[in-house]
Amino acid sequence: MCGIVGYTGNKQAYPIVIKGLQRLEYRGYDSAGIALLGSSLKIYKKKGKVSALEKDVIGKDLEGNTGIGHTRWATHGEPNDANAHPHQSQSGRLAMIHNGIIENYASIKQELLLKDYHFTSDTDTEVLLNFIEDVQYNNECSLEEAIRIALKRVVGAYCILLISKDEPETIYAARKGSPLVIGVGDGEYFLASDASPIIEYTKEVIYVNDFEMAIVRPGELILKNLGNEKQTPFITKLDMELAAIEKGGFEHFMLKEIYDQPDTVFDCQRGRLLPETGQIIMSGIDNNMDMLINAPRIIIVACGTSWHAGLIAEYWIEELCRIPVEVEYASEFRYRNPVINKGDVIIAISQSGETADTLVALENVKKQGAFIFGIVNVVGSSIARMSHAGAYTHAGPEIGVASTKAFTAQLTVLMMMALKIGYAKKTIAYERYYSLMVELVAVPNKIRQIIKNVAGIQRIAKKYKDANDFLFLGRGYNFPIALEGALKLKEVSYIHAEGYPAAEMKHGPIALVDETLPVVFVATRDTYYQKIVSNVQEIKARKGKIIAVVAEGDDVITHIANDVIAIPDADELIGPLLNVIPLQLLSYYVGIEKGLDVDKPRNLAKSVTVE
Ligand code: M6R
Repeated sequence: MCGIVGYTGNKQAYPIVIKGLQRLEYRGYDSAGIALLGSSLKIYKKKGKVSALEKDVIGKDLEGNTGIGHTRWATHGEPNDANAHPHQSQSGRLAMIHNGIIENYASIKQELLLKDYHFTSDTDTEVLLNFIEDVQYNNECSLEEAIRIALKRVVGAYCILLISKDEPETIYAARKGSPLVIGVGDGEYFLASDASPIIEYTKEVIYVNDFEMAIVRPGELILKNLGNEKQTPFITKLDMELAAIEKGGFEHFMLKEIYDQPDTVFDCQRGRLLPETGQIIMSGIDNNMDMLINAPRIIIVACGTSWHAGLIAEYWIEELCRIPVEVEYASEFRYRNPVINKGDVIIAISQSGETADTLVALENVKKQGAFIFGIVNVVGSSIARMSHAGAYTHAGPEIGVASTKAFTAQLTVLMMMALKIGYAKKTIAYERYYSLMVELVAVPNKIRQIIKNVAGIQRIAKKYKDANDFLFLGRGYNFPIALEGALKLKEVSYIHAEGYPAAEMKHGPIALVDETLPVVFVATRDTYYQKIVSNVQEIKARKGKIIAVVAEGDDVITHIANDVIAIPDADELIGPLLNVIPLQLLSYYVGIEKGLDVDKPRNLAKSVTVE
């Protein structure tokens, strides 16, 4: 939530900061703003997307070798120009941007109001900035010291970048709970919420840890903790190419990322899934196999699409490894008092690795001694770093706000994990283990085949784009796919949609069915096929419009449904990896038919770093 970017060096900061904001826009697009520091301090900010800011600054003074920029996902205060970042301190001396939430801002604001501070916005950020300024005046200390003192009072999460008219080349940065990466250039520094604005300038980065602050100026980087002790910066080499964060000829990131899936699923398997030797090599699992096979219980913690991946993993792990699994919404789990027993393993699933609810839920169980296995896409992210072991999904940067390729990569990791543990635990025979490996290897090509038939899906999207509601139904392994199909449609088309277990429909949702309701069945060939045929008939009898995802060669549901999407056949355990693809495409094209910004749906942000 919110993207922050900063630059200091010998180049003009504006072009670097504005490009960085375009790259980070997926993190929030309620407003955008920049502060430039050179011969003077200039602040420009505007409600709306980065493009609105770009128009607004035409003809204005954009000079300065130091700059900070912000793209906002509103928390405190509605999206408008006044609440946009950067904020300026009352004296006009300091400017600051912030990602996170200052939970105790109201009490700090009260103190400042009594001292005659005035506020021009409704934000917690402006409160923190004036508090820092106030601390500096009261303590007659350096700005650096004032930031440290102020941050020790703060309850909540923050990543801040702060500049001062008094030090035109310096950026002060600090984080707790919100991400910060520093790119190390040739005497210059790039600061950002993630590596995407940095990648074209340098591959050398430092991931700043919680409770650390950095003071950067051309040719100098000082890293300290909030106790004022110097820390040694650890430089990591980024394994990411610029092409991975560009649209590569596609109209939208979402479509590119759907089309990327044959490659991303393959990349996720590469070097790990080796049917030729009968091996699955994943060091995070190999090194902890005893603990995993003896786990009395696995608890999966995640949010949104990652939670849906967790639900499928529950079916897989119970089937293949015979270990009881619970799947928890991180936002609920973190506030419960869960019973964690000796040996329980927590699997955290997160694309961004920065989701605040997941992160805090993990911190809580870590304190209770649980072992945490992270399945994360963003390398070096907070969840990746706080896990005891894990496996990256290697899907590359996912920029479309609606998660697509990260999901299939998560499923690929989870299936390899279930196979590996099940085989080591002897809860599956070699033949089954081997045949599922071969099925998994075949997934990229089968996704390619589904994508080739996109025209049929586009036609269905056009036909149903004006529906007010959608119902998505599936059974067994495909129930979570129904949930994911509904979530995708809601996100990018703003059509109300519900996912349900197909059989559960009779217990309530069937009341919604009439001739206006499109009902999407995920009905490929599996153990429940005959059962789902009956469910399809039940909807047909009530005149619902049936859109069915079926396996090629299906000759039952094909004749009942109004519209059919036929996809390659697969083992029922592997099916979810394929069945989700037409639902992603359907949502994308419904969003496009409605003329919506599918990459940046309203009210959403890619990385939910506030609770
Ligand atoms: O980065 P994470 O996987 O932890 O994010 C979890 C959810 O916020 C995310 O999946 C969200 O639901 C997506 N917008 C779904 O498309």
